[in-house]
Amino acid sequence: MLKIMKNKLASSYVIQNYKKILPFVKPYWVRAVIAMLITIPIGSMDALIALMLKPYMDIVLVEKSVEATVYIPILIIVFSLFQSSLNYLATYLNTWVGRKIANDVKIKLFDKLMSYEASFFDKRNSGEIQYRFNNDVDTACNGLIANLKKFATRIFSSIALICVLLYNSWQLAIIALIVMFCALYPLKNIRKRIKDIMKKTVFSGAKVMTHFNEAFSGNRVITSYNLKNYQSKKFKETLQTVFTLGIKMVQRTGLMSPIMHFIISIGIALVIWYGSYLIASGEITPGNFVSFLAALLMLYTPIKALGNDFNSVMMSLMAIERIFKLLEDSPSIKNSENAVKLDENITSIEYQNVSFGYSKSTLSLKNINIKIDAGTTVALVGNSGGGKSTFASLLPRFYDIDEGKITIDGKNIKDIDLYSLREHIAVVFQDNFLFSGTIKENIILGRENVSQEEIDLAVKSACLEEFISELEDGLDSQIGERGVLISGGQKQRIAIARAFLKNAPVVILDEATSALDNKSEAVVQQAIDNLMKNRTVIVIAHRLSTVRNADKIVVINYGQIAEIGTHDELVEKANGIYASLYKAQLR
Ligand SMILES: Nc1ncnc2c1ncn2[C@@H]1O[C@H](COP(=O)(O)OP(=O)(O)OP(=O)(O)O)[C@@H](O)[C@H]1O
Ligand SMILES: [Mg+2]
Repeated sequence: MLKIMKNKLASSYVIQNYKKILPFVKPYWVRAVIAMLITIPIGSMDALIALMLKPYMDIVLVEKSVEATVYIPILIIVFSLFQSSLNYLATYLNTWVGRKIANDVKIKLFDKLMSYEASFFDKRNSGEIQYRFNNDVDTACNGLIANLKKFATRIFSSIALICVLLYNSWQLAIIALIVMFCALYPLKNIRKRIKDIMKKTVFSGAKVMTHFNEAFSGNRVITSYNLKNYQSKKFKETLQTVFTLGIKMVQRTGLMSPIMHFIISIGIALVIWYGSYLIASGEITPGNFVSFLAALLMLYTPIKALGNDFNSVMMSLMAIERIFKLLEDSPSIKNSENAVKLDENITSIEYQNVSFGYSKSTLSLKNINIKIDAGTTVALVGNSGGGKSTFASLLPRFYDIDEGKITIDGKNIKDIDLYSLREHIAVVFQDNFLFSGTIKENIILGRENVSQEEIDLAVKSACLEEFISELEDGLDSQIGERGVLISGGQKQRIAIARAFLKNAPVVILDEATSALDNKSEAVVQQAIDNLMKNRTVIVIAHRLSTVRNADKIVVINYGQIAEIGTHDELVEKANGIYASLYKAQLR
């Protein structure tokens, strides 16, 4: 009883996972159904060929009559031709449907991936993302297509072949079927056996990819620190793990096919032994026997390979399971039910008793209270690691705060439509990411309806004019992946140009001028002053010269607001942090 229940569970696992993929098959169901239906004739035609061997044997070999069976070779050729054509069609349709499904799943996963909040990416590495969001889909869909056709064909071929067996001799058929079910026995529990190995394999596969990504992104560090051997050693170790897992997998599953092969040989031996006896006693004709044997060999041959096939089916099912786990998960930062849109112009931003920690154990910001009026500039200064970037990243909701609330125009940002919220804020980050492509593409960032004047203005305001005019291709110059082909300061100015073009009412500048020389800084400062006009600005800077004109200066030390005031107020303060910072920098 328990065993039956377990088997039921196993088969429901298969059905459950195939069911999940059904919505993706739906748009292509006609082709999918045709592909499935074709497998019926493909599968059954094997049986026809076996069936024809009986009259052929009995009439030609036993009765020695040739004329009566001249049609048989012709029919075999015709059937095979038909079967091959159908096979081609089935492969074509299956691949078509499978690739379409794979694309749809990948698109859905990609959209999901981009909807995740920053902490999702903080916790993972690039290899894992590539593996889970890309390779798993290939494993799942390729496995699904290849195996579905194979299995469907085999099921129909098996049914037809079993009919041929029964037609020729029911006694031998019973023996053959009992042996067949014994041979299938090792397939039981296969999922349980490979589950933990699969998990580790996925993990190591992801690690392999991360090595490649780091070899690419970190190539300069690797070269300058002579890390080739070190990196290569780490890579070897990971590959060794993958190898060990592969071997373990074979140890657990590789014996299946040989065992099935062995059991099946016993079946054939039994049939030949008992069959000879049945022929001798006249219960079946030699034609029956040959036809039976042919059908039996056709039935058994795929079963021998079933062990390995079944293994790959399980792997693709597990990949499907992982994919749907990802699809079912949802980002924790998303629109609330009654999310509202922000007005075009805002009046104020307020942080009220805000506390936030990247992990539960430590708070990076504690009890922050500050009101920022629209159109004013707030400068954040303080120790490195003090929480300035964190403070700024809470406003566009890269992370959600743990306590307190942040409001814009009195509305809690958690209730503001995310798209609208982020449209209102332009961020120039401490380390800006540039996409591979041209300077222009990196400035307009997919915005349509941007006029050339607007682009030129942004370029001019970000002090990029001189640099771009020197380039052969101007705005259309390629900047390389992550902007490797241009300098740090140029990257920063491209990021500033982006912010100009976005024309958002709130601007966050996180060390936006840190990679600029003194001359450029003075120029960019002018540009930033332009950018700040009529806008609400949060500016983070180490160089106090860039913040002295701010309406409010906030000193954030070790996660807390230590001082708040204008430049003039803060320099006056005896033993003030800002005052001492200022004095130190003046010197
Ligand atoms: N993604 C993250 N996950 C976990 N901890 C983080 C993350 N980003 C920053 N931290 C930690 O949070 C604290 C505040 O970091 P933050 O980047 O806000 O400092 P900062 O004031 O901007 O420093 P700096 O002036 O050096 O840029 C630091 O202790 C930092 O290690
Ligand atoms: Mg910072």
